Amino acid sequence: MDPVSTSMSDETSATASNVVLVTGAAGGIGGAVADRFLAGGWRVAALDVRPIERTGDVHPIQADLRDVAQCRSAVADAAQWGGRLDAVVNAAGVWTEGPSDLTDEADWDRVIDVNLKGLYFLTSAAIPHLERSRGSVVNLSSDAGVQGNAGAAVYCASKGGVSILTKALALELAPRGIRVNAVCPGDVDSPMLHGQARDYGGDEPDAYLGKLLGGYPQGASARFIQPSEIAELIWFLCQPFAAPITGANISADFGLSAGIV
Ligand SMILES: NC(=O)c1ccc[n+]([C@@H]2O[C@H](COP(=O)([O-])OP(=O)(O)OC[C@H]3O[C@@H](n4cnc5c(N)ncnc54)[C@H](O)[C@@H]3O)[C@@H](O)[C@H]2O)c1
Repeated sequence: MDPVSTSMSDETSATASNVVLVTGAAGGIGGAVADRFLAGGWRVAALDVRPIERTGDVHPIQADLRDVAQCRSAVADAAQWGGRLDAVVNAAGVWTEGPSDLTDEADWDRVIDVNLKGLYFLTSAAIPHLERSRGSVVNLSSDAGVQGNAGAAVYCASKGGVSILTKALALELAPRGIRVNAVCPGDVDSPMLHGQARDYGGDEPDAYLGKLLGGYPQGASARFIQPSEIAELIWFLCQPFAAPITGANISADFGLSAGIV
C-alpha cells in the first residue's frame, strides 16, 4: 500500500510517530529544528544539498532545492519513509549582499531559486500529505523579509517573497486544514552568519559582526540569537495548541525590526 494513502484517522491523530520534513537540515537552524523535533518524539526527514550526518530516527535526503523535480521527489521520499507528513520546515537558505549595480544574474538566480522558488515547490508538493494530516508549514523568513536591509536587496527580495507567500498560502490552504506561518529571525549564530562575516567582512570579520550587533536596541548587552531559540518557536508553531496561528510572520529579532531606536 502506498504509505501516504493511509486512512484519514491514522493521519489526523497526533501521535509520537509524527513526521517533519526539515530542509537545510545540515545547517544551523535546520539542524536545531531536527534536534527539537527528535526530542519531542517526532521522526525527521532531513533534507540538504550537503550530506546529512545524523543519528537517531532521521531519514537523510540529499537534494538541491533549485531543481523542482528534486523538490517533488524529496517530498515523495519523505512521505514514503514516514508513512505520513505532519509538518514541513523550510530552513534551507543562502545569503548574498553587495551593491545592486554590481549584482550579477547568477547570484540573483541562486538566491531566489533556493530561498523562494525551492521553498515554494517543496511546499507545493507537500500539500496533499499535509491535508491528510491537517499539518502545518513553517517558513524561515528574516528581519530582512519585513524591512529593508541596505546592501542586501536580493536577499530582502527573496525573504519579502517568503513572508507574503506565507500569508497567501495560509489563506489558500486554510479550507484544507493546513496552517502556514513564517518566523523572521534577526542575526542567528549559525554557519550562515559566520560565512557572511568571512565573505563580506574583508580583513575584519569580527568588525562585521560587531556592526550587526551595534544595530540592536539592547546596546551593550546585544547578542546573536541561538539556533535552538528559533527551533523552539518553530516547534511551538507546529503543535495542536497553535491551531489559531496561521498566516503569521513572527519576528524573533530582539526588536531589530520594531522601529527606530
Ligand atoms: N543565520 C541568520 O542570521 C538568519 C537570519 C534570518 C533568517 N535566516 C534564514 O534561516 C534559514 C536557515 O539559515 P541558517 O542560519 O541555518 O543557515 P545555514 O547556512 O547554517 O544553513 C542553511 C542550509 O541550507 C542548505 N542549502 C543551501 N542551498 C541549498 C539547496 N540548493 N538545496 C538544499 N539545501 C540548501 C545549506 O547546505 C545549509 O545547510 C535560511 O533560510 C536563512 O536565510 C538566517
